[in-house]
Amino acid sequence: MPDNVFASPHPLVAHKLTKLRDRRTEPKKFRELIREIAGLIVYEATLDLATVPTTVMTPLAEAPGVQLREKIGLVPILRAGLGIVEGVWDLMPTAEVWHIGLYRDERTLKPVEYYNKLPVEPTVSVCLVLDPMLATGGSAVAAIDILKRWGVTKIKFVGLIAAPEGIQNLSSHHPDVPIHVAAIDSHLNEIGYIVPGLGDAGDRQFGTA
Ligand code: URA
Repeated sequence: MPDNVFASPHPLVAHKLTKLRDRRTEPKKFRELIREIAGLIVYEATLDLATVPTTVMTPLAEAPGVQLREKIGLVPILRAGLGIVEGVWDLMPTAEVWHIGLYRDERTLKPVEYYNKLPVEPTVSVCLVLDPMLATGGSAVAAIDILKRWGVTKIKFVGLIAAPEGIQNLSSHHPDVPIHVAAIDSHLNEIGYIVPGLGDAGDRQFGTA
């Protein structure tokens, strides 16, 4: 396993992920859990964000502090990545959200781009690519290709469950991109679903199963 792949060791994450996987979990609860787990994973994923020193006046005296130096862009892979945005926004409400629409061709399992309105110049210095499921890794590789062409150099992948096949694909195409997830599962099945996984993350969030 590459040394920039991180599966959260946190018991809270493991507890919430267990509820998320449970087939009996309804969409409302599923969305809440995605949001909560995403916040915990992104907290771990942003440990190295650059800061600049500053000071503030407390009611008693001047106190040293810091401000985040980097402008953060969230790039959810539509549509399942949308639920993760809410969780990250709870922590970083000023993060910009840039949408890249990719769908997985059911026959080839390859990503097809259908929406991309990035402006010419990058407006952020760090991008977090958000997708709950790192399955084949095809969509993440394609989204990161787009972001690198846009000119962003610092990119991280934030997800919930990864398959070893997806990690292998993403790490071989983009070895500089750290991968942060709640768990690494066993394998992909013949139709590209993560096993044991949680099923279709989009359908379970949006109630379309
Ligand atoms: N996308 C999902 O929603 N679930 C998987 O298991 C794989 C891809």
